[in-house]
Amino acid sequence: MTNDLTRLFSKFELGPYQLSHRVVHAPMTRLRASPDDSPSDMMVEYYRQRASAGGLLITESAHPSFDSRGYIGAPGIYSDRHVDAWKLVADAVHAKGARIFMQIAHDGRQSHVDLSDGKLPIAPSVVPYDTVVFTQDGWVPNSPHRALEADEIPSLIESFRQASARAKDAGFDGVELHNANGYLADTFLQDGTNKRTDAYGGTVEKRARFSLELVEAFASVWGADRVGVRVSPSGQWGSISDSDPEATFGYFARQLNAYGLAYLHVIEPRVMGTETLDDGQAPVASAFLRTQFAGPIIAAGGFDRAGAEGILKSGDADLVAFGRWFSSNPDLPERFRRNLPLAPYQRDAFWGGDERAYTDFPDFVEA
Ligand SMILES: Cc1cc2nc3c(=O)[nH]c(=O)nc-3n(C[C@H](O)[C@H](O)[C@H](O)COP(=O)(O)O)c2cc1C
Repeated sequence: MTNDLTRLFSKFELGPYQLSHRVVHAPMTRLRASPDDSPSDMMVEYYRQRASAGGLLITESAHPSFDSRGYIGAPGIYSDRHVDAWKLVADAVHAKGARIFMQIAHDGRQSHVDLSDGKLPIAPSVVPYDTVVFTQDGWVPNSPHRALEADEIPSLIESFRQASARAKDAGFDGVELHNANGYLADTFLQDGTNKRTDAYGGTVEKRARFSLELVEAFASVWGADRVGVRVSPSGQWGSISDSDPEATFGYFARQLNAYGLAYLHVIEPRVMGTETLDDGQAPVASAFLRTQFAGPIIAAGGFDRAGAEGILKSGDADLVAFGRWFSSNPDLPERFRRNLPLAPYQRDAFWGGDERAYTDFPDFVEA
């Protein structure tokens, strides 16, 4: 294993912010919000523990409307009461000298009628598929969904804009559009789930339109240099697929160049074991998007300390986000810096529960 961590622990300018290292907290839904969808006290503690001077945290996905949740216990950012609770998160992180972006997501078809007072989940088109979602009754199969009417789209985009304004009111440093993992924006972009024939479907230009309008809504509130976008070009979570991921994501990345975003956040193919996709296409990763996107790239998915230094050294990414390792190691940057052992993560406590295996992982304790 390399002990050269020159790049992982070098400074980086992200939009207007000076980071002192490249170890980013990846967004992770943990389903521990209060019953009214406000961040709970234990969430404040979770983020406080993982803040490090000069570091960047990205929150779990927060929802721009009541109907946009796909899992009970996921936090909202659709009401003023959420702003007050998120402010506690932002303040706790800032007190330790770190920066924090809020990931904003509409879960789209990965949802259930029981989560939205009986209303059908929405998607660009009706394309039946199977997944499980977390409701009052635990993990249950998703319910059928319906296709959005074109005249519903402007108010949907407006709900994202308002959510991003609430994140600003809460004192966050920026917002990230969740355009990955088969949630609503991703289902517009990829042709396996977008079968529309109107201005939001068909050609890649039309499929990318919804995502680009969301980026513009966020940028109108924040300025583009405080807005990031997350994509998973080779991911299959949520039964998402595209007939030509390189063309779709290459086009999308090039379009994003017009804005001067804070970053593009790329989930690498290896995370779902998709080294080779079913149809034999080469997976799309940071290495390819680097050739299309002109701004900073955060890579995520299956990284360890040496792997992170490796991708920074190769030049394919500027920062590396860690999910599971950050869940069980609140002081992950310091453990990497000193090459300390890592605490194993506990999968059984990922989604829902209490402080156990959430905020009870200690910082490294010297023997
Ligand atoms: C418990 C859990 C919850 C997650 N929730 C989200 C989420 O809310 N938004 C998102 O974009 N990715 C989410 N992810 C994906 C992670 O951000 C990350 O891409 C993935 O865990 C791979 O990185 P890792 O190998 O460092 O864990 C989640 C992953 C896990 C394990």
